Amino acid sequence: MQQGFKNKVVWITGASSGIGEGLVNAFAQQGAKIILSARRESELKRVAQQTNLKEENYLILPFDLADTSKAYVYVEQILRQFGRIDILVNNGGYSQRAEAKDTPLDIDRQLMEVNYFSAIALTKSVLPVMIKQQGGQLVVISSVSGKFGFYLRSSYSAAKHALHGFFETLRLETEKQGIKTLLVCPGKIKTNISFAAVTADGKQHNRMDESHKHAMSSAECAGIILNAIQKGEEEILVGGKELKAVWLKRFFPKVFGKIIRKQSPY
Ligand SMILES: NC(=O)c1ccc[n+]([C@@H]2O[C@H](COP(=O)([O-])OP(=O)(O)OC[C@H]3O[C@@H](n4cnc5c(N)ncnc54)[C@H](OP(=O)(O)O)[C@@H]3O)[C@@H](O)[C@H]2O)c1
Repeated sequence: MQQGFKNKVVWITGASSGIGEGLVNAFAQQGAKIILSARRESELKRVAQQTNLKEENYLILPFDLADTSKAYVYVEQILRQFGRIDILVNNGGYSQRAEAKDTPLDIDRQLMEVNYFSAIALTKSVLPVMIKQQGGQLVVISSVSGKFGFYLRSSYSAAKHALHGFFETLRLETEKQGIKTLLVCPGKIKTNISFAAVTADGKQHNRMDESHKHAMSSAECAGIILNAIQKGEEEILVGGKELKAVWLKRFFPKVFGKIIRKQSPY
């Protein structure tokens, strides 16, 4: 068993499902101490209990990313139990399945709050700790939707694009203090993301997109992310053939424009 993250203190949001759950398992296998956050406490407990973690080596810290006003209180709580924070994984979030013209502005704002501002708020609460430690790693789960807009995902895509602007800047500003920043852009990963995606009436989309049914597993995705953290990478793409769209957009934007229009939103 690899022990690359032995005794590292890792705070993971969105730890109750999907990629976050995969990350909890992967970090636990490598000897990390883990703080699990999401709204559903019962699911966080389920995830923690399926790992090999001893009770003193994890902390269940449930809260809604739409309200990060107590972020500094959470940080104090983590420091009381573990004394430091080595890695913050801003992973929690949800997607959208509605056209921009049909999406009420309060849903747009909520998508930005949970998918963008929460990551900024938690990061700002953890930064003083990492600066004092003279080291730490910030991991941000963006998306290929942070690289190009796509049908039915206007504000989700906007939030993911915003993460790149913020964290690319922060990386430059904090690397002298020993802080590394990794932006992860998953393509299609088989999780509950499309079930939980918000529709124009504020309800959940409640079904798995066709394109997710045979996608990469969250366990494989988590393994790739841990590898990138260990190598100190700055940005990675994770997924299958859908990642080609990122390269197409960069090098052949006209071809990209033709191909992307023909893709199913689901
Ligand atoms: N799966 C993909 O294909 C894919 C592709 C690109 C990017 N991503 C990104 O990967 C990250 C994880 O998503 P996933 O695919 O693993 O989906 P998922 O299985 O639906 O997991 C989402 C996680 O975020 C948490 N969450 C959602 N809204 C929250 C809120 N308001 N407050 C606190 N926690 C909240 C959920 O927990 P609770 O419901 O318990 O709160 C859950 O743990 C997201 O940032 C997503 O945008 C995924």
